[in-house]
Amino acid sequence: MSKTALITGITGQDGSYLAEFLMSKGYRVHGMMRRSSTFTTGRIDHLYEGFGAHATGLKLHYGDLGDATGLRRILGEVMPDEVYNLGAQSHVRISFDQPEYTADVVGMGTLRLLEAIRDHMQATGVPIRYYQAGSSEMYGKVVETPQRETTPFHPRSPYACAKVFAYWQTVNYREAYGLFAVNGILFNHESPRRTENFVTRKITRTAARIKLGLQKELSLGNLDAKRDWGFAGDYVQAMWMMLQQPEPGDYVIATGETHSVKEFLEMVFARLKLDWKKYVEIDKRLFRPSEVDLLLGDSSKARKVLGWKPKVSFPQLVDMMVTADLELAEREKRAEG
Ligand code: NAP
Ligand code: GDD
Repeated sequence: MSKTALITGITGQDGSYLAEFLMSKGYRVHGMMRRSSTFTTGRIDHLYEGFGAHATGLKLHYGDLGDATGLRRILGEVMPDEVYNLGAQSHVRISFDQPEYTADVVGMGTLRLLEAIRDHMQATGVPIRYYQAGSSEMYGKVVETPQRETTPFHPRSPYACAKVFAYWQTVNYREAYGLFAVNGILFNHESPRRTENFVTRKITRTAARIKLGLQKELSLGNLDAKRDWGFAGDYVQAMWMMLQQPEPGDYVIATGETHSVKEFLEMVFARLKLDWKKYVEIDKRLFRPSEVDLLLGDSSKARKVLGWKPKVSFPQLVDMMVTADLELAEREKRAEG
């Protein structure tokens, strides 16, 4: 019997890669998406085959982490074996502008979903395995490097505070109710599907447009921050692996390499044979009220227990994103005539 998975945040970067991966494993995949006045299914259109009972392949359900009734209804309709909670207001800078909303979706949304799963399991007697999208942002002002599962959290943004709340709720549902619930503590992961206002994609997208004469400058904030950047396609496989273990646990997923924003920038512009200093302007408005200066993950536990390791290297990730954004810019240029 093939398994059934429910993914919140299916329209996002990770949701799309995870849906692809689970479908390739023979899963019946259901996704929860928000109603929006514009279409948000661009990343999953190639997988999606319609709403309703007669749809095949990926099935979508309208819902929102702010709406507990809807979450309960969807669980009842889908009867999932596995739930992957990826839905979030995931932009750290924007969480300073929308702290209450971010806390509600990221923190309370997780609690709503866990509580709905608990009631669903009690009513149906059918077990569910739960994945929570934790974040390296929870380490914030880091107290040790590299960061591992035992490193204390010191969140530095409304987003990170909400993720810490969600992390501990997940642990508590495991300990209090015996739910098979895991936290993946994922370090930054990127791809050509990354939203354009995260720094890597902003750089590759703008640099490609500059190369083709479609844009003149690139505004950035803090170039000194360092991140442990991996490829999203590799990271969603770790999510699945965590749910296939005999016992639930929490895992750091990271490459074990860190690079500054400036290094990423230099590498991208060098690939395009451009001098970044001619195009980049520093905009103080893009700095954060409190910054996470350095993230570097130790994923030894995942490597040992799950047998997971990243396949795409940092230079390969840069190449993949630059190549995709050059193709996109070329299409834009042709469309401009
Ligand atoms: P993303 O591209 O921003 O996708 C977020 C998803 O959540 C989108 O599908 C979005 O829907 C959905 N969403 C937003 N608000 C929602 C709400 N109120 N109810 C239901 N769904 C909602 O993020 P991502 O990069 O794929 O990341 C996936 C998860 O991993 C997030 O929880 C993120 O915080 C976490 N994470 C990401 C990274 C990373 O480096 N990418 C690292 C660690 C943890 P719309 O399409 O309608 O906006
Ligand atoms: N977004 C953005 N835009 N960031 C900039 C810019 C800019 O113009 N200029 C410099 N930066 C710096 C930020 O200050 C930060 O230090 C770094 O680039 C990375 O920023 P983001 O790409 O926005 O990612 P993030 O690290 O804040 O958060 C991402 O990774 C987390 C995991 O550590 C998101 O995906 C989070 O959802 C995720 O939890």
